[in-house]
Amino acid sequence: MNKREFLQIITSMGLTTAFWQDLAAFDTNQEYQTLSRLSNDEEKFWKHIRSLYELKPDYINLENGWYNIIPKPILKAYFEEIHKLNLEGTYYMRTRLFDDNIEVRKQLAQLIGCSYEELIITRNTTESIDTVIAGIDWKPGDEVIFNTQEYPAMIDMFKVQARRYGIVNKIISIPNDPKSDEEIVSLYEKAITPKTRVILVSHIINITGHILPVRKICDMARNRGIFTIVDGAHAVAHFDFKISDLNCDAYASSLHKWLSVPLGAGMLYLRKDRIKEIWCLFGETAYPDEDIRKLNHIGTHPAHTVLTIPASIEFYQKIGAKRKENRLRYVQEYWTSKVRGVPNIFLNTPSQSHRACGIANVGIQHIKPANLAKILLEKYKIWTVAIDHPEVQGVRITPNIFTTTDELDKLVAALIELSKK
Ligand SMILES: Cc1ncc(COP(=O)(O)O)c(C=O)c1O
Repeated sequence: MNKREFLQIITSMGLTTAFWQDLAAFDTNQEYQTLSRLSNDEEKFWKHIRSLYELKPDYINLENGWYNIIPKPILKAYFEEIHKLNLEGTYYMRTRLFDDNIEVRKQLAQLIGCSYEELIITRNTTESIDTVIAGIDWKPGDEVIFNTQEYPAMIDMFKVQARRYGIVNKIISIPNDPKSDEEIVSLYEKAITPKTRVILVSHIINITGHILPVRKICDMARNRGIFTIVDGAHAVAHFDFKISDLNCDAYASSLHKWLSVPLGAGMLYLRKDRIKEIWCLFGETAYPDEDIRKLNHIGTHPAHTVLTIPASIEFYQKIGAKRKENRLRYVQEYWTSKVRGVPNIFLNTPSQSHRACGIANVGIQHIKPANLAKILLEKYKIWTVAIDHPEVQGVRITPNIFTTTDELDKLVAALIELSKK
């Protein structure tokens, strides 16, 4: 859709505020050309990226974990998809939905390194992982291993299976700053018994930013015939990897996080030879047991969100996967390196560079997490989230690609000032 058409639409809808005018004038191709021109100048490149976001001036947003703010190229594509679906009505659903879904799955599969026949688009990680857990043919006494820092929704789902089928949940504790991969892998290995059926492990722990040695855990589990589920809610488009590198059986992610798809998009990968083992949660008989689409009968859903996935992939690729990973790790290390070792400040995120990326967690002695988050917002205008977990007490700091070092300097100054009180 060109600028004139977009303007006509928003005017006909009475949408004449500055926001709509700005979005109508926004020229995605031109912005991408500028980005490509600035590619060799790191500082100007990221400054331009920031200009592609509309950000509230009221606070510094260091809580980009739950979901990502959408940059203008994706926001514009999203509104165009909403308009298209609304204009065409059920004609779209009956003539295009099916083929478009395959096309989007193909693009996503290529991005994350799997076959599109091993991938479905869901609404989020919770739906993806719960679909797998609910689909396993559990027997009483089957054992599952996961760590205490897994996402609470997944822990709850296993607790429900324990009540319903008598499975046994073995919950291990992992260190926040391990010295080696083997230290982590051996914790899972030691918990295995002949009854172990499943290991659930996060690719990146959401409360600390700890990247776990998932490949080594999956290799170890595969040698013992154990089914592995990787919770990659925060991993896709955060750091560079391919699912084919991980050797897992199931992989789930939320695309509204780091891929910046509008809210309500997730994915589920299932290794081809394991699909037939998983029962569908929502009844579906149109596909054979080996076809992953049997797990995707979710009913009418916001298809315009799914249709915006290609625009999100394009935005991500214009930046470059490795470049984005490097930038996120750089901004995290920019501030953590300035407070690590400062008296009364402690970090709950691994110190070795490759064990973390954009997310980190910091605490201050004698200040409870909720209070720290409140002070940061009210006194310093810095938006974060408090984490109060038996093994992790602090605030989670999640910058984004639009975060500037000036903003991080303000965080560092605030933490140091508070640590002295
Ligand atoms: C590790 C992890 N798993 C799962 C989820 C759930 O994601 P969603 O709410 O998109 O299903 C989150 C959300 O932050 C998460 O951090």
